[in-house]
Amino acid sequence: CGIVGYIGHREAYPIVIKGLKRLEYRGYDSAGVMIYDGDAIKLCKTKGKVADLEQKALAEMTTTGSVGIGHTRWATHGVPNDVNSHPHESNSGDLVIIHNGIIENYAPLKEELIKRGYVFHSDTDTEVLVNLIEEIQIKEKLKLGKAVQVALNQVIGAYAIAVFDKKNPNEIVAARLGSPLAIGIGEGEYFIASDASPFIEYTSNAVYLEDGEMANIRLHKNMKVRKIKDDSLVDPYIQELKMNLEQIEKGGYDHFMLKEIYEQPSVIKDTYRGRLHANEGIIQMAGIEDNLEKFLNADRIIIVACGTSWHAGLVAEYIFEEFARISVEVEYASEFRYRNPIINSKDVVIAISQSGETADTMAAIKLAKENGAFVFGVCNVVGSSISRETYAGAYTHAGPEIGVASTKAFTTQITVLTMIALRLAKAKGTLSHTDYHMYLQELELIPEKVQEALATDSVAKEIAAVFVDAPNCLYLGRGYNFPVALEGALKLKEISYIHAEGYPAAEMKHGPIALIDEQMPVVVIAPRQGHYDKIVSNIQEIKSRSGKIIAIVTKGDTEVRRLADYVIEIPKTSDPLSPLITTIPLQLLSYHIAVMRGCNVDQPRNLAKSVTVE
Ligand code: G6P
Repeated sequence: CGIVGYIGHREAYPIVIKGLKRLEYRGYDSAGVMIYDGDAIKLCKTKGKVADLEQKALAEMTTTGSVGIGHTRWATHGVPNDVNSHPHESNSGDLVIIHNGIIENYAPLKEELIKRGYVFHSDTDTEVLVNLIEEIQIKEKLKLGKAVQVALNQVIGAYAIAVFDKKNPNEIVAARLGSPLAIGIGEGEYFIASDASPFIEYTSNAVYLEDGEMANIRLHKNMKVRKIKDDSLVDPYIQELKMNLEQIEKGGYDHFMLKEIYEQPSVIKDTYRGRLHANEGIIQMAGIEDNLEKFLNADRIIIVACGTSWHAGLVAEYIFEEFARISVEVEYASEFRYRNPIINSKDVVIAISQSGETADTMAAIKLAKENGAFVFGVCNVVGSSISRETYAGAYTHAGPEIGVASTKAFTTQITVLTMIALRLAKAKGTLSHTDYHMYLQELELIPEKVQEALATDSVAKEIAAVFVDAPNCLYLGRGYNFPVALEGALKLKEISYIHAEGYPAAEMKHGPIALIDEQMPVVVIAPRQGHYDKIVSNIQEIKSRSGKIIAIVTKGDTEVRRLADYVIEIPKTSDPLSPLITTIPLQLLSYHIAVMRGCNVDQPRNLAKSVTVE
């Protein structure tokens, strides 16, 4: 979910609506807004997108007023409908809340409140929280800030909230635990949001609340930040924001996803800038240099991540083992944390996360830390929760990724992880001098080759037109390109809703081959390097069962071309670095199929960019 709030001297409504649109990637099954006009609370909420909310609000309410809060939701409790949408009001109608997160113990709290006469209109945990605050406020005669604090100390769960009280309309109270919350500080005005994007054109000063902190935000007064648990005051650290508006707008592309696919040559360069010095044979990353011994002494590396980041982890497994001869395990963060993993102080854990906010990954990090492991983060969002929770890390520097289907985050994660593997290889002497230097040179050339691979766009589009109505699709790859097959399939299912599966090509004969008939498109990643001959045999197996073959091949390839129905040619690179190139046409293929099917590419149904619930 995404939250936005404003208190100041401007009209709040346009700020909140525009902010919600920027945060819509965080969830978009319903949205709502509250504006206080100096006298009354105006509330509007609806199932659907922020654009639907805008229409409804214009028809139903006046929007003037300089205090406002808004919410865009990704349902956890209760189906997406108007009633379950935020903001939620307390029974008296005085308090209004927006909430991102989950209140786990809402059921007993709700029962208690019902006993005391409270009535509930929605199925949400949030409505329980706002009434709990009201009950405490009334019973203990407390001001809003105090009541919020007492309530939060009774709550188990995760939250970023903003609460408004009509009885004291010059104030908004905000708090966070587990879900991100940024406060923008302007001249006589404050902004509250899940990330800084809603307010970057108004101020470049922001405070990121830490877990367990709350803020009393009052007009014409300094903001007070304190610890929810013991009420101690905290001196908030005001950060200067480096983001600019252009970075979060579409820049002429039809969709954020396409823009982000096309940004890859430049962001991969940003990722290795200042770190990779190919001519000198040096890779330098502060987070690694400072902790080199930890990595060198590690018995093994455990990678934890979710979704696309997990796929980047799988690619890294192959690369680390090959280059640095360290054994690597890659785990879904959610699975890792819920079993009883064997982990100790000789393990290095690498957590990979674009957003740096994924709740499962965060929980896995905490577990690893409790067991004494050294935890290193690979995040894209600077200042994110995971980047702060880990002992050290390396940012990917891909810039804001707005499209829910991850693209540039994936390739930049692989870039960072490759650099780490090469740095360790150098320290351990596990690569020959020649190979080490060759990989450095190759890595430096990747942006150019990605640029070349982007020229497959028109071919990808033609192929997309052929398979736009396919009900299923199989993706096959071997070695370094097996995880790319998984990622290719994930991209397709995420945005086009076509069922797709990724498989190691050789494993196909143990099951998926049963699915192959003349209706079945099979995307095979078959660059000239790696296990080329083997994959040619796999292609023959598909061909003899009349499957439709779309092959990703190295420029100039003739052998696969003879067998495949469609080919997409990509530039040559060394096998370990090939995922950075083979991924590109797969991103484009899913993109075009989704567009042709009329799907909402940037905001696919049921998904969210940043999943801050477990
Ligand atoms: C969500 C997104 C995916 C993403 C995953 C992990 O499911 O829809 O695109 O890969 O979370 O996110 P993270 O921010 O931790 O990389």
